[in-house]
Amino acid sequence: MKVLVTGGTGYIGSHTVVELQQKGYEVVIADNLINSHRDVVDRIEKITGIKPCFEQIDLTVEKGVKQMFDKHGDIHSVIHFAALKAVGESVKQPLRYYHNNIESLINILDAMNRIGSKTIVFSSSCTVYGQPEKLPVTELSPIQPACSPYGHTKQICEEIIANTLSVSELNGVLLRYFNPVGAHPSALIGELPLGAPNNLVPCITQTAIGKRPALKVFGDNYNTPDGTAVRDYIHVVDLAKSHVVALERLFNKKNKKNLEIFNIGTGQGYSVLEVIQSFEKVSGRKLDYEIVGRRSGDIEKIWADTTFANKELGWKAVLGIDEMMLSAWNWEIALKGE
Ligand code: NAD
Ligand code: UFG
Repeated sequence: MKVLVTGGTGYIGSHTVVELQQKGYEVVIADNLINSHRDVVDRIEKITGIKPCFEQIDLTVEKGVKQMFDKHGDIHSVIHFAALKAVGESVKQPLRYYHNNIESLINILDAMNRIGSKTIVFSSSCTVYGQPEKLPVTELSPIQPACSPYGHTKQICEEIIANTLSVSELNGVLLRYFNPVGAHPSALIGELPLGAPNNLVPCITQTAIGKRPALKVFGDNYNTPDGTAVRDYIHVVDLAKSHVVALERLFNKKNKKNLEIFNIGTGQGYSVLEVIQSFEKVSGRKLDYEIVGRRSGDIEKIWADTTFANKELGWKAVLGIDEMMLSAWNWEIALKGE
């Protein structure tokens, strides 16, 4: 069965392409390489032995998207990862984010409806919950006003999908990711932030390898056990697998509604200091870090209630924080060797 993976040369997309190919699916990647590299296609081939078909295309261009769907004809399903995702950048360039993330989705849904595709899996984010009043967050926890244009695009895209599916033959799943980290065990693919990273784990590994000065820990006066902020980190390979499971639920018509929503996390929160401790343990290195003031826009703590995903999807994250940090470190070391 042919699956279109938009954003398939990106961080989560590339790991998902690997899992799909290893399960026997034929994959077409559509990506404009605005935040990824073409050689990811070769790296995927090195891991799986299969070169995915690659279309370099800007999904905001309606005509191009139509032509791509016509060319491939039988795109049964789409996993839609393609988006701009830098929270801070979205505050500075809101229109760029609204254009890119929303127009891409609209073009994809239009094309899917036109050729009669059946299923869509969409990359959403726990950012839609803001700072929840009750933890852990379930899929029924209230959606809070978005803290950034990026977060707002996720909320709008969720609504666009819900409205579209309510009047079409399409079935879909929204996966709300918590904090994806780590890399493939082959160390051939991983997160490759263009420019200076903002996320914690690439900041840790880049500090440890000497690419950047001491890590800044943003705030130690939160209402958490050690005062640093808490997140639900999930290994990118576990996350990638959840897409295959979600897709197969739709293929096998096991879905209970035409649009279902799942929290994709581990259900376990770790503080910034706990993540650093795990890194130091698995790498055998002492990390140079300093405590500084809070980062504006950060929430204090969030972690997922994954009961629904575990029961309904039959999916559960199995890799722990040490495996996440070791794979991220091995990826950083592999990058240095290139
Ligand atoms: P990424 O930047 O590595 O991958 C996104 C890919 O989409 C990139 O390869 C980029 O080139 C491509 N792209 C962007 N706009 C495009 C366009 N107009 N046309 C074609 N290709 C385009 O990001 P990622 O971390 O792999 O994230 C994948 C998805 O998951 C995104 O939708 C993101 O918002 C969502 N998400 C990510 C996180 C996270 O922390 N990484 C958390 C929650 C949700
Ligand atoms: N942090 C530091 N120092 C750093 C970087 C991060 O202390 O150098 C802290 C942050 O303050 C936060 C925690 O590490 O407390 C995690 O920060 P990240 O930037 O790694 O992740 P966020 O939870 O802020 O946001 C991420 C993505 C968003 C996404 C969200 C939920 O960047 O795009 O997860 O999925 F929306």
